[in-house]
Parts: sequence; structure tokens; C-alpha cells
Amino acid sequence: MLPEELKQSLIEHIDQVEHPRELVVDVMFAIQEHYGYLTDEGVQETAGLLDMSALEVEQLATFYTFIYREPVGKYVIHVCDSVVCWMDGYESVRDYLIQKLDIQPGESTPDGLFTLLAVCCIGYCDRSPAMLINRKAYGNLTADKIDGILEKLHRRS
Ligand code: FES
Repeated sequence: MLPEELKQSLIEHIDQVEHPRELVVDVMFAIQEHYGYLTDEGVQETAGLLDMSALEVEQLATFYTFIYREPVGKYVIHVCDSVVCWMDGYESVRDYLIQKLDIQPGESTPDGLFTLLAVCCIGYCDRSPAMLINRKAYGNLTADKIDGILEKLHRRS
């Protein structure tokens, strides 16, 4: 269940707009942030707040790459698999991440730290191959650079 404070702040935000549905992504993100992913309960709560059906919310939730309908790790790695990154070494970056994390795309590490997902172009083409980790972009990826990034995140956890 959403904390009353979060619920109230979402209601206040929703009350300020003419068409509440336009806030569906913001509301899903806020609820995802609370639960760690958009739970079934979160879908129902989003629908209730915006006077939408759960099915409508579900359809939008599955459309957006950054809304997670299943549990994810603390750090979600979105590795870009679009054309420029493909040309600049996406496969070796993906394979290195698979080897380093010992998981396949779509999976999370058993310690709950990392989830690996593929994503379409993240607008970092001039620094491809590229990835996002919790929305922070990293480009010109090499095995050494990936090692450094992952070590830093391990140290922070
Ligand atoms: S194609 Fe990978 S960032 Fe654009």
C-alpha cells in the first residue's frame, strides 16, 4: 500500500492538471520508485489515482522500457543494442557484461545488485557503444571501463 504522504502528493499533483491521464508515466515512476518495480498493486493504485482501468495502465506500463513489471536489481543496466552501437561493438560489450555479471539479458544477479536489459538508442550514439545505469549514461565502453564502473557501484553498495 502506498504511504499516505506519497499518495497525497500524487493527488495534489494530479489535481493541478486538466487531463490527469497525461501524468500516467510520472505516477507509474513514482509508484515504481516506492515499490522498486511497478507491482500489480502499483498498477491498481495508478489506475485508481488517474481514473483509468488497470488494463489501460498495464498496456502503458509494458510499452515503456523504464517501467519494470518485475523485480529488478538496485542498478538496472540498459545496454544499447541499436544500429550505431551494433556497428561500434555492442556485441562485445553485451557479452562482457554477461560474462562479468554471470547473468543473461533480462536477468538479475543473485545478490539483487544488477539487472541487465537491452534498450533502443539512448541518444549517446556519438559515444557508442553505450549503456545507461539507472538513467546515467556511459559511453565509449570497453572492458576496462565497464570493470571500473561496476567496481565503483559495488563499493557504493
Ligand atoms: S545507437 Fe546506441 S546510443 Fe544511439
